[in-house]
Amino acid sequence: MPAIRELEDAYERYVLNNEDGFVDEFRRRIEDFGGRPTPLQYAENLSARYDTDVYLKREDLLHGGAHKLNNALGQVLLAKYMGKERIIAETGAGQHGTATAMAAAHLDMPCEIYMGERDITRQRPNVFRMKLNGAEVVPVTTGRGTLKEAISETMRDWATTVEETHYVIGSIVGPHPFPTMVRDFHALISEEARAQLHERAGQLPDAVLACAGGGSNTMGTFHHFVDDEDVGLYAVEAGGSSLAVDEEEGVAPNSASLSTGTEGVLHGARTKLLQDGDGQIVESHSVSSGLDYAGVGPELAHLVDEGRVQPVNVDDDAALEGFHRLSQREGIIPALETAHAFGYLEEHHDDLGDVVVVNVSGRGDKDLAAALEETEQRDLSNAPDMGEFSGGM
Ligand SMILES: Cc1ncc(COP(=O)(O)O)c(C=O)c1O
Repeated sequence: MPAIRELEDAYERYVLNNEDGFVDEFRRRIEDFGGRPTPLQYAENLSARYDTDVYLKREDLLHGGAHKLNNALGQVLLAKYMGKERIIAETGAGQHGTATAMAAAHLDMPCEIYMGERDITRQRPNVFRMKLNGAEVVPVTTGRGTLKEAISETMRDWATTVEETHYVIGSIVGPHPFPTMVRDFHALISEEARAQLHERAGQLPDAVLACAGGGSNTMGTFHHFVDDEDVGLYAVEAGGSSLAVDEEEGVAPNSASLSTGTEGVLHGARTKLLQDGDGQIVESHSVSSGLDYAGVGPELAHLVDEGRVQPVNVDDDAALEGFHRLSQREGIIPALETAHAFGYLEEHHDDLGDVVVVNVSGRGDKDLAAALEETEQRDLSNAPDMGEFSGGM
């Protein structure tokens, strides 16, 4: 496909070879506009609770409140270098759409964001944020109205408008060069975390944890540790309400494609997918929109096959407990996606070694209404009593 070849050429020239100083400009802008480097914070209360040194990589403090800006800014800037005049993107939780809208406003590019109808309902604050930054939000009504359909719709748009349009894909998914290019923009996370931990503690971590949807924060957090064989890398997926697949209904009540998926092709990449015996993609589920995807980035799937990355998962309840625990014990309200990593930390801290880095991929402001609603339906040990306020969100 000519669009992909053009992008591959631009990736090699600008991102890999720093032609016209692209990488220098990216690094300058992600510092000035984005607020990098993000802190590596020692989590005192969790460290005491687990008798383990827990460090938090605070991507929630990046401009926009999630890791997504690293990639969005990189790709919108690349589109400028390629002479494109229009930006399109898909979004699930709304974080990537928000980051793309911000980057497009910052670099003065018109921008349209495709978003599933169901996600529009689940993530209203992010819809407003995109609009406030001047982006048009296009509702996607096909299928279940979540991330998979939004990606398909954006690809359809791109196929007919490629001459003037760049598609800013939101994770390490899709056809080459997207997975490696998106990883490269996010690799700042592990580049910084490695150096910061070395300065603070003079050592490498025993374990690095990140939640995994498509896998962009995961690969960004792992990349500079992949060659350090003693560092355990844990990709924490959404176990949803069950790991079972209902083939007849075409539903997997989880998004754990690394843990339970089988090999197939989705959105131009061969990877691990939630699919039935005929190769039909089944409906995924997660309490967090951003993890609700039936596939995962091909590089992450490959690292799992090689045994370098451990695919693990926690269910919706454990993620919600993690959400409340981090909020109450560290004063950080995490995104529901991020909360999965803290659910896993709670359950498995004894097996992770003495020094653990957890990526706080995003903040939870966008999730307040959903978290409250989901909390009310459960009997969670960490949740506060919201009393009369609970109905008011
Ligand atoms: C805060 C946050 N973390 C994680 C994810 C999952 O995406 P990825 O696996 O590509 O990092 C999302 C997706 O929207 C997100 O908003």
